[in-house]
Amino acid sequence: MVSPSSLFLILLFLSIPFSECNLTTDYYKNSCPQLENIIRETVTSKYISVPAAAAGTLRLFFHDCMVGGCDASVLISSNPFTKAERDADINLALPGDAFDVIVRAKTALELSCPGIVSCADILALATRNFVSMAGGPVYTVMLGRKDSLESNISSVEGNIPRANTTMDEIIRMFESKNFTVGEMVALSGAHTIGFSHCKEFAYRLFGYSRSTPTDPSYHPKFSAALKTLCANYKNDSDMAAFNDPMTPSKFDNMYYQNLKRGMGLLESDNGLLRHPRTNHFVDLYAFNQTAFSNDFARAIEKLSLSGIKTGNQGEVRRKCDAFNTFQT
Ligand code: HEM
Repeated sequence: MVSPSSLFLILLFLSIPFSECNLTTDYYKNSCPQLENIIRETVTSKYISVPAAAAGTLRLFFHDCMVGGCDASVLISSNPFTKAERDADINLALPGDAFDVIVRAKTALELSCPGIVSCADILALATRNFVSMAGGPVYTVMLGRKDSLESNISSVEGNIPRANTTMDEIIRMFESKNFTVGEMVALSGAHTIGFSHCKEFAYRLFGYSRSTPTDPSYHPKFSAALKTLCANYKNDSDMAAFNDPMTPSKFDNMYYQNLKRGMGLLESDNGLLRHPRTNHFVDLYAFNQTAFSNDFARAIEKLSLSGIKTGNQGEVRRKCDAFNTFQT
Protein backbone atom coordinates (compact mmCIF):
# COMPACT_ATOMS: atom_id res chain seq x y z
CA MET A 1 0.00 0.00 0.00
CA VAL A 2 1.49 3.36 -1.04
CA SER A 3 1.17 6.07 1.63
CA PRO A 4 -0.19 9.50 0.60
CA SER A 5 3.21 11.12 1.30
CA SER A 6 5.18 8.68 -0.88
CA LEU A 7 2.52 9.00 -3.59
CA PHE A 8 3.10 12.77 -3.48
CA LEU A 9 6.87 12.25 -3.85
CA ILE A 10 6.38 9.89 -6.80
CA LEU A 11 4.07 12.39 -8.53
CA LEU A 12 6.54 15.21 -7.85
CA PHE A 13 9.37 13.15 -9.34
CA LEU A 14 7.29 12.28 -12.42
CA SER A 15 6.48 15.97 -12.99
CA ILE A 16 10.20 16.86 -13.32
CA PRO A 17 11.38 16.34 -16.90
CA PHE A 18 13.92 13.52 -16.98
CA SER A 19 16.91 15.57 -18.19
CA GLU A 20 16.59 18.07 -15.32
CA CYS A 21 16.97 15.21 -12.83
CA ASN A 22 20.54 14.75 -14.02
CA LEU A 23 21.58 18.27 -13.06
CA THR A 24 23.03 18.99 -9.63
CA THR A 25 24.66 22.00 -8.01
CA ASP A 26 27.88 20.03 -7.35
CA TYR A 27 28.15 18.29 -10.72
CA TYR A 28 31.84 19.29 -11.09
CA LYS A 29 32.77 18.87 -7.41
CA ASN A 30 35.32 16.12 -8.11
CA SER A 31 36.06 16.64 -11.81
CA CYS A 32 36.72 20.40 -11.66
CA PRO A 33 36.79 21.76 -8.11
CA GLN A 34 38.31 25.06 -9.35
CA LEU A 35 35.22 25.85 -11.46
CA GLU A 36 33.54 28.41 -9.19
CA ASN A 37 36.84 30.22 -8.49
CA ILE A 38 37.73 30.45 -12.17
CA ILE A 39 34.28 31.78 -13.07
CA ARG A 40 34.41 34.28 -10.20
CA GLU A 41 37.85 35.59 -11.17
CA THR A 42 37.07 35.81 -14.89
CA VAL A 43 33.70 37.52 -14.41
CA THR A 44 35.00 39.93 -11.76
CA SER A 45 37.89 41.07 -13.89
CA LYS A 46 35.61 41.57 -16.91
CA TYR A 47 33.07 43.46 -14.80
CA ILE A 48 35.79 45.80 -13.50
CA SER A 49 37.13 46.58 -16.99
CA VAL A 50 33.79 46.52 -18.90
CA PRO A 51 30.74 46.82 -16.60
CA ALA A 52 28.46 46.74 -19.66
CA ALA A 53 29.43 43.08 -20.14
CA ALA A 54 26.96 42.20 -17.34
CA ALA A 55 23.93 43.25 -19.39
CA GLY A 56 25.44 41.85 -22.58
CA THR A 57 25.97 38.42 -21.02
CA LEU A 58 22.49 38.34 -19.48
CA ARG A 59 20.99 39.06 -22.90
CA LEU A 60 23.27 36.48 -24.53
CA PHE A 61 22.03 33.87 -22.04
CA PHE A 62 18.39 34.80 -22.70
CA HIS A 63 18.87 34.54 -26.46
CA ASP A 64 20.58 31.16 -26.04
CA CYS A 65 17.87 29.68 -23.82
CA MET A 66 14.96 30.88 -25.99
CA VAL A 67 16.23 29.03 -29.07
CA GLY A 68 16.33 25.28 -28.45
CA GLY A 69 17.22 25.66 -24.77
CA CYS A 70 20.25 26.72 -22.71
CA ASP A 71 22.80 24.76 -24.73
CA ALA A 72 25.37 27.35 -25.89
CA SER A 73 24.04 27.10 -29.46
CA VAL A 74 24.26 30.89 -29.69
CA LEU A 75 28.05 30.74 -29.20
CA ILE A 76 28.73 28.69 -32.36
CA SER A 77 30.33 30.59 -35.24
CA SER A 78 29.03 30.16 -38.77
CA ASN A 79 31.10 28.15 -41.21
CA PRO A 80 31.01 28.04 -45.03
CA PHE A 81 28.33 25.31 -44.87
CA THR A 82 26.02 26.47 -42.08
CA LYS A 83 24.92 29.88 -40.86
CA ALA A 84 24.62 29.71 -37.09
CA GLU A 85 22.13 31.37 -34.68
CA ARG A 86 24.70 34.01 -33.87
CA ASP A 87 24.32 35.50 -37.35
CA ALA A 88 20.55 36.04 -37.08
CA ASP A 89 19.87 39.79 -37.28
CA ILE A 90 18.44 39.86 -33.73
CA ASN A 91 21.75 38.46 -32.39
CA LEU A 92 24.09 40.74 -34.31
CA ALA A 93 24.06 43.43 -31.61
CA LEU A 94 25.01 40.97 -28.85
CA PRO A 95 28.23 42.55 -27.60
CA GLY A 96 31.65 41.02 -28.20
CA ASP A 97 32.52 41.37 -24.51
CA ALA A 98 29.80 38.89 -23.59
CA PHE A 99 31.25 36.26 -25.94
CA ASP A 100 34.75 37.18 -24.78
CA VAL A 101 34.12 36.51 -21.10
CA ILE A 102 32.90 33.00 -21.95
CA VAL A 103 35.97 32.36 -24.12
CA ARG A 104 38.25 33.54 -21.28
CA ALA A 105 36.54 31.34 -18.69
CA LYS A 106 36.61 28.35 -21.05
CA THR A 107 40.32 28.85 -21.78
CA ALA A 108 41.17 28.97 -18.08
CA LEU A 109 38.99 25.92 -17.40
CA GLU A 110 40.55 23.90 -20.23
CA LEU A 111 43.95 24.51 -18.62
CA SER A 112 42.74 23.34 -15.19
CA CYS A 113 40.34 20.55 -16.13
CA PRO A 114 40.40 19.84 -19.87
CA GLY A 115 37.25 18.61 -21.61
CA ILE A 116 35.10 18.70 -18.46
CA VAL A 117 32.99 21.87 -18.18
CA SER A 118 30.40 22.63 -20.87
CA CYS A 119 30.08 26.05 -22.44
CA ALA A 120 26.35 26.00 -21.56
CA ASP A 121 27.22 25.68 -17.86
CA ILE A 122 29.89 28.41 -18.13
CA LEU A 123 27.34 30.79 -19.68
CA ALA A 124 24.76 29.99 -16.98
CA LEU A 125 27.28 30.54 -14.16
CA ALA A 126 28.81 33.70 -15.65
CA THR A 127 25.31 35.19 -16.04
CA ARG A 128 24.49 34.38 -12.41
CA ASN A 129 27.70 36.07 -11.21
CA PHE A 130 27.18 39.17 -13.36
CA VAL A 131 23.59 39.57 -12.12
CA SER A 132 24.68 39.41 -8.49
CA MET A 133 27.64 41.76 -9.11
CA ALA A 134 25.23 44.30 -10.60
CA GLY A 135 23.19 44.14 -7.37
CA GLY A 136 20.64 41.53 -8.39
CA PRO A 137 19.65 38.39 -6.52
CA VAL A 138 21.99 35.46 -5.96
CA TYR A 139 20.26 32.38 -7.31
CA THR A 140 21.03 28.70 -7.69
CA VAL A 141 22.47 27.33 -10.94
CA MET A 142 22.12 23.58 -11.47
CA LEU A 143 24.98 22.10 -13.48
CA GLY A 144 25.54 19.30 -15.96
CA ARG A 145 24.18 20.80 -19.20
CA LYS A 146 25.74 19.53 -22.41
CA ASP A 147 26.53 21.77 -25.38
CA SER A 148 24.31 21.55 -28.46
CA LEU A 149 25.23 19.57 -31.53
CA GLU A 150 23.52 22.08 -33.81
CA SER A 151 23.05 25.81 -34.29
CA ASN A 152 21.08 27.07 -37.22
CA ILE A 153 20.11 30.62 -38.12
CA SER A 154 16.69 29.40 -39.26
CA SER A 155 15.71 28.36 -35.70
CA VAL A 156 15.87 31.90 -34.33
CA GLU A 157 12.96 33.77 -35.94
CA GLY A 158 9.81 33.68 -33.83
CA ASN A 159 11.56 32.51 -30.67
CA ILE A 160 13.07 35.79 -29.45
CA PRO A 161 10.78 38.78 -29.00
CA ARG A 162 11.47 42.05 -30.79
CA ALA A 163 10.88 45.56 -29.45
CA ASN A 164 7.72 45.90 -31.57
CA THR A 165 6.33 42.39 -30.97
CA THR A 166 2.82 42.80 -29.52
CA MET A 167 2.30 41.92 -25.86
CA ASP A 168 -0.18 39.17 -26.81
CA GLU A 169 2.48 37.63 -29.04
CA ILE A 170 5.21 37.98 -26.35
CA ILE A 171 2.91 36.27 -23.84
CA ARG A 172 2.24 33.46 -26.34
CA MET A 173 5.96 33.08 -27.04
CA PHE A 174 6.78 32.67 -23.34
CA GLU A 175 3.75 30.45 -22.67
CA SER A 176 4.85 28.16 -25.50
CA LYS A 177 8.06 27.66 -23.50
CA ASN A 178 6.10 26.99 -20.34
CA PHE A 179 6.54 30.39 -18.69
CA THR A 180 3.67 32.13 -16.94
CA VAL A 181 2.77 35.76 -17.61
CA GLY A 182 4.18 36.69 -14.18
CA GLU A 183 7.49 34.96 -14.94
CA MET A 184 7.73 36.81 -18.25
CA VAL A 185 7.17 40.16 -16.51
CA ALA A 186 9.78 39.32 -13.84
CA LEU A 187 12.34 38.26 -16.47
CA SER A 188 11.72 41.49 -18.38
CA GLY A 189 13.06 43.26 -15.31
CA ALA A 190 16.47 42.38 -16.83
CA HIS A 191 15.98 45.70 -18.66
CA THR A 192 16.96 47.37 -15.39
CA ILE A 193 20.51 47.23 -16.81
CA GLY A 194 22.08 47.71 -20.21
CA PHE A 195 21.01 49.74 -23.19
CA SER A 196 19.06 49.68 -26.46
CA HIS A 197 20.15 51.09 -29.79
CA CYS A 198 18.13 54.03 -31.14
CA LYS A 199 16.93 52.02 -34.14
CA GLU A 200 14.92 49.83 -31.73
CA PHE A 201 12.68 52.70 -30.60
CA ALA A 202 13.28 55.62 -33.04
CA TYR A 203 9.89 55.03 -34.72
CA ARG A 204 8.26 55.91 -31.40
CA LEU A 205 10.06 59.27 -31.46
CA PHE A 206 10.00 60.36 -35.08
CA GLY A 207 7.37 58.36 -36.97
CA TYR A 208 4.75 57.06 -34.56
CA SER A 209 1.70 58.06 -36.58
CA ARG A 210 0.69 60.66 -39.14
CA SER A 211 -1.09 62.80 -36.55
CA THR A 212 1.33 62.15 -33.63
CA PRO A 213 4.97 61.74 -34.65
CA THR A 214 5.97 60.94 -31.05
CA ASP A 215 4.36 58.15 -29.02
CA PRO A 216 2.20 59.98 -26.44
CA SER A 217 2.88 57.26 -23.85
CA TYR A 218 6.39 58.65 -23.40
CA HIS A 219 6.82 61.30 -20.72
CA PRO A 220 7.37 64.50 -22.79
CA LYS A 221 10.71 65.30 -21.14
CA PHE A 222 11.92 61.75 -21.66
CA SER A 223 11.00 61.71 -25.36
CA ALA A 224 12.60 65.15 -25.83
CA ALA A 225 15.88 63.85 -24.34
CA LEU A 226 15.70 60.70 -26.49
CA LYS A 227 15.10 62.78 -29.64
CA THR A 228 18.28 64.73 -28.96
CA LEU A 229 20.25 61.57 -28.21
CA CYS A 230 19.01 59.75 -31.31
CA ALA A 231 18.86 62.73 -33.71
CA ASN A 232 21.70 61.28 -35.82
CA TYR A 233 20.92 57.59 -35.38
CA LYS A 234 20.65 56.84 -39.09
CA ASN A 235 24.27 57.91 -39.63
CA ASP A 236 25.57 56.60 -36.32
CA SER A 237 24.17 53.14 -35.67
CA ASP A 238 26.01 52.89 -32.32
CA MET A 239 23.78 55.52 -30.70
CA ALA A 240 21.98 53.92 -27.75
CA ALA A 241 20.05 54.83 -24.61
CA PHE A 242 20.10 53.24 -21.16
CA ASN A 243 17.18 50.87 -20.62
CA ASP A 244 16.85 52.30 -17.12
CA PRO A 245 18.05 55.93 -17.23
CA MET A 246 17.59 56.43 -13.46
CA THR A 247 19.92 53.65 -12.19
CA PRO A 248 21.41 52.29 -15.44
CA SER A 249 23.90 49.81 -14.04
CA LYS A 250 22.11 48.78 -10.85
CA PHE A 251 20.00 45.63 -10.90
CA ASP A 252 16.95 46.96 -9.05
CA ASN A 253 13.20 47.45 -9.54
CA MET A 254 13.59 50.97 -10.98
CA TYR A 255 12.70 49.61 -14.43
CA TYR A 256 9.09 49.05 -13.28
CA GLN A 257 8.93 52.45 -11.58
CA ASN A 258 10.11 54.00 -14.85
CA LEU A 259 7.32 52.28 -16.78
CA LYS A 260 4.77 53.99 -14.56
CA ARG A 261 6.44 57.38 -15.24
CA GLY A 262 6.23 57.07 -19.04
CA MET A 263 9.87 56.05 -19.27
CA GLY A 264 9.54 52.64 -20.86
CA LEU A 265 12.13 52.82 -23.62
CA LEU A 266 10.89 50.03 -25.90
CA GLU A 267 7.33 49.51 -27.06
CA SER A 268 7.49 46.06 -25.43
CA ASP A 269 8.49 47.67 -22.10
CA ASN A 270 5.57 50.06 -22.27
CA GLY A 271 3.31 47.18 -23.29
CA LEU A 272 3.81 45.57 -19.87
CA LEU A 273 2.14 48.57 -18.28
CA ARG A 274 -0.75 48.67 -20.75
CA HIS A 275 -1.73 45.02 -21.05
CA PRO A 276 -4.47 43.79 -18.66
CA ARG A 277 -2.61 40.51 -18.01
CA THR A 278 0.72 42.15 -17.12
CA ASN A 279 -0.02 45.55 -15.55
CA HIS A 280 -0.65 44.29 -12.01
CA PHE A 281 2.78 42.62 -12.00
CA VAL A 282 4.33 45.96 -12.98
CA ASP A 283 2.53 47.57 -10.02
CA LEU A 284 3.72 44.83 -7.67
CA TYR A 285 7.38 44.98 -8.74
CA ALA A 286 7.49 48.79 -8.88
CA PHE A 287 6.28 48.86 -5.28
CA ASN A 288 8.11 45.83 -3.89
CA GLN A 289 11.81 45.32 -4.59
CA THR A 290 11.91 42.06 -2.61
CA ALA A 291 9.05 40.55 -4.62
CA PHE A 292 10.89 41.44 -7.83
CA SER A 293 14.21 40.02 -6.60
CA ASN A 294 12.62 36.75 -5.48
CA ASP A 295 10.46 36.32 -8.58
CA PHE A 296 13.32 37.19 -10.94
CA ALA A 297 15.55 34.63 -9.18
CA ARG A 298 12.94 31.84 -9.47
CA ALA A 299 12.17 32.73 -13.10
CA ILE A 300 15.80 32.79 -14.23
CA GLU A 301 16.47 29.52 -12.39
CA LYS A 302 13.62 28.09 -14.45
CA LEU A 303 14.89 29.72 -17.66
CA SER A 304 18.32 28.20 -17.05
CA LEU A 305 16.78 24.70 -17.07
CA SER A 306 14.77 25.10 -20.23
CA GLY A 307 15.54 22.73 -23.07
CA ILE A 308 18.80 21.58 -21.57
CA LYS A 309 20.70 18.67 -23.14
CA THR A 310 22.18 15.87 -21.05
CA GLY A 311 23.95 12.58 -21.77
CA ASN A 312 24.41 11.91 -25.46
CA GLN A 313 21.99 14.71 -26.45
CA GLY A 314 25.06 16.94 -26.53
CA GLU A 315 28.80 17.19 -25.95
CA VAL A 316 31.33 19.19 -23.94
CA ARG A 317 32.88 21.40 -26.59
CA ARG A 318 36.62 21.96 -26.59
CA LYS A 319 36.05 25.48 -27.92
CA CYS A 320 32.77 27.26 -27.29
CA ASP A 321 32.42 28.62 -30.82
CA ALA A 322 32.83 25.30 -32.67
CA PHE A 323 31.48 21.75 -32.48
CA ASN A 324 34.07 19.08 -31.64
CA THR A 325 33.45 17.46 -35.02
CA PHE A 326 33.36 19.71 -38.07
CA GLN A 327 29.87 19.64 -39.61
CA THR A 328 29.05 20.18 -43.26
C1 HEM B 1 9.95 40.37 -23.09
C2 HEM B 1 10.38 40.70 -24.25
C3 HEM B 1 11.72 41.29 -24.58
C4 HEM B 1 11.97 42.08 -25.66
C5 HEM B 1 10.98 42.51 -26.72
C6 HEM B 1 13.36 42.47 -25.59
C7 HEM B 1 14.00 43.26 -26.53
C8 HEM B 1 15.24 43.85 -26.34
C9 HEM B 1 15.85 44.79 -27.24
C10 HEM B 1 15.24 45.27 -28.56
C11 HEM B 1 17.01 45.19 -26.69
C12 HEM B 1 18.00 46.20 -27.27
C13 HEM B 1 19.08 45.50 -28.05
C14 HEM B 1 20.04 46.43 -28.71
O1 HEM B 1 19.68 47.54 -29.10
O2 HEM B 1 21.21 46.05 -28.87
C15 HEM B 1 17.16 44.48 -25.44
C16 HEM B 1 18.21 44.63 -24.58
C17 HEM B 1 18.41 43.82 -23.48
N1 HEM B 1 17.61 42.75 -23.10
FE1 HEM B 1 15.77 42.35 -23.76
N2 HEM B 1 13.92 41.91 -24.49
C18 HEM B 1 12.97 41.16 -23.84
C19 HEM B 1 13.16 40.40 -22.71
C20 HEM B 1 14.38 40.22 -22.10
C21 HEM B 1 14.67 39.22 -21.10
C22 HEM B 1 13.66 38.20 -20.59
C23 HEM B 1 15.97 39.37 -20.75
C24 HEM B 1 16.81 38.58 -19.77
C25 HEM B 1 16.36 37.73 -18.90
C26 HEM B 1 16.48 40.50 -21.50
C27 HEM B 1 17.73 41.04 -21.35
C28 HEM B 1 18.17 42.19 -22.00
C29 HEM B 1 19.34 42.93 -21.61
C30 HEM B 1 20.22 42.66 -20.38
C31 HEM B 1 19.50 43.96 -22.55
C32 HEM B 1 20.64 44.99 -22.60
C33 HEM B 1 21.76 44.41 -23.44
C34 HEM B 1 23.02 45.23 -23.45
O3 HEM B 1 23.11 46.27 -22.83
O4 HEM B 1 23.99 44.79 -24.13
N3 HEM B 1 15.51 40.96 -22.32
N4 HEM B 1 16.07 43.65 -25.26
